[in-house]
Amino acid sequence: MTIGIIGSGAIGTAFARTLSRAGVEATISNSRGSESLKDLVRELGPSIKAGTREEAARAEIVFVAVNWTKLPAAMAGLPDWNGRIVIDANNPIEAPLFKPAELGGRVSSEIFADLVAGARVVKAFNHLRAGLLATDPRSDGGRRVLFYSGDDTPAKGEIAALIERLGFAGIDLGSLEVGGKLAQFPGGSLPNQNLIRIG
Ligand SMILES: NC(=O)c1ccc[n+]([C@@H]2O[C@H](COP(=O)([O-])OP(=O)(O)OC[C@H]3O[C@@H](n4cnc5c(N)ncnc54)[C@H](OP(=O)(O)O)[C@@H]3O)[C@@H](O)[C@H]2O)c1
Repeated sequence: MTIGIIGSGAIGTAFARTLSRAGVEATISNSRGSESLKDLVRELGPSIKAGTREEAARAEIVFVAVNWTKLPAAMAGLPDWNGRIVIDANNPIEAPLFKPAELGGRVSSEIFADLVAGARVVKAFNHLRAGLLATDPRSDGGRRVLFYSGDDTPAKGEIAALIERLGFAGIDLGSLEVGGKLAQFPGGSLPNQNLIRIG
């Protein structure tokens, strides 16, 4: 299984850190090219490599964490997705104004899915602040909970397995329409809930 990361900011780096802790390999990218990621990958450890956006997008699982308004540009001109899995870690709001994006009554993941036509989208890794996501998920006598949702059951199964491998406890929230909405910030009831599964 190969993993690519598009977006090397707070959330992309937090995800890479959890992969690195578990010794899972990935290629991380941003808009500025791999040279700008030299120091970051050195700090993250040997399992994380720097690459271009196109290289990251060729992986079997592509994790996307980009500012909401920059997503169309970040997803443009990439090779066909052909059923590969894309993790949507994005929320429809952005610094510095933190004004919620206009979604026209849709769930943000459904809008995101339109940008990656042909991919199997799983919403995950978006309900906690980056600083907390990056820390060891084995905490307080249990495992930190991560939610995931999506419309393709096998794709969700693969992300559930990755979540477990990284040491988190995964909870399936159902479809993008239902689960995506529950975990979305703003709008959902689950963002920032730091839950620990005991046992
Ligand atoms: N921060 C949090 O605690 C948090 C929590 C949950 C969810 N989220 C969501 O996660 C997403 C990312 O947030 P963040 O806080 O990580 O943002 P961030 O720190 O500002 O990082 C954004 C990243 O997106 C990259 N990017 C922008 N345009 C791109 C393009 N055209 N091609 C490739 N990469 C591009 C940037 O690369 P360059 O710097 O090279 O332009 C940067 O690495 C957002 O949707 C946010 O709502 C954030």
